[in-house]
Amino acid sequence: MAKKRILSGMRPTGPLHIGNLHGALANWKSMQDQYECFFFIADWHALTSDYDTTAPIRGYIMDVFIDWLSAGLSPGKCTFFVQSHIKEHAELFLLLSMITPLPWLERNPTYKEQIAQLQNKDLSTFGFLGYPVLQAADIIMYKANGVPVGIDQAPHVELTREIARRFNHFYGNIFPIPDTILTETPKILGIDRRKMSKSYNNAIFLSDSPEEIRNKVSRMITDPQRARRTDPGNPDVCNVFSFHRLYSDNDTVQGIDRECRKAQIGCVECKQMMSENLIRALGPIRDRRSGYEAKPDAVRAILEDGNRKAQAVARKTMEEVRAAVKI
Ligand code: TRP
Ligand code: SF4
Repeated sequence: MAKKRILSGMRPTGPLHIGNLHGALANWKSMQDQYECFFFIADWHALTSDYDTTAPIRGYIMDVFIDWLSAGLSPGKCTFFVQSHIKEHAELFLLLSMITPLPWLERNPTYKEQIAQLQNKDLSTFGFLGYPVLQAADIIMYKANGVPVGIDQAPHVELTREIARRFNHFYGNIFPIPDTILTETPKILGIDRRKMSKSYNNAIFLSDSPEEIRNKVSRMITDPQRARRTDPGNPDVCNVFSFHRLYSDNDTVQGIDRECRKAQIGCVECKQMMSENLIRALGPIRDRRSGYEAKPDAVRAILEDGNRKAQAVARKTMEEVRAAVKI
């Protein structure tokens, strides 16, 4: 039986951090054998909010792509592409925009949230409201059966399903209705205990050197109640401890849990143990990265190959779409 096809994407907003690794990337990687995978970089989507600062986007595309490869997404198993290279997305977006009722977009929860959150930006644009329509075009263009996304993106896939149904209703059954594949995204806190995010300047990046990791971990906020080395600590509220759970073995985790509560271990030592384990855990990613960074032409060729494959699928879909819409 043919493998089911999944598709997902990321906006190129900068290098990826360990929050992205344990969220999207780990999930994508675990699906690459079971599914036919299309993963793409949504650079047009980056413009919906960053239309006034476009200069870094091209560089970010390569950063994100090298992060994907370094994290172990395999060019032999996945098709990788860049959204803006496949102009068919723009055409399908236009056709879908004709049939998408405005209220569907206006009641989209992520739309309302973002407008409220990003007060310093003028997001009252046509493109920003239409964000999910472009996303629907991205997804149905490849007739994806499933879309692995975190919970925050689930409303967009729901809208995609509605738009696809509406298209099929008007013009004939062309598109499968894609399933939302909800992916587990453990909440990873940054070194300042806020949600890890590039924009908060609190992230540990996949591309950080061991030195940078040691430095960042040494600055991590621990149990805020533990002011002195002689004070007992509480690992349950300590972010360093939650990192230990991810990167240290069970015995270490249990030992720290015990000793911290009795002030038998200091935070400096505890952090040093954790950062070495974190550095070790990211070792395979660092190794793959140095391999790819030594061959930038090969990396570009992988993306060009993916663009070609995606383009072929998109052309075929658009031929069917134009025939169905009779335009
Ligand atoms: N909106 C997604 C995000 O911000 C990125 C994206 C664009 C996407 N098109 C997509 C994800 C299609 C899945 C499928 O993360
Ligand atoms: Fe956190 Fe470790 Fe310090 Fe305990 S000893 S408060 S777990 S850093």
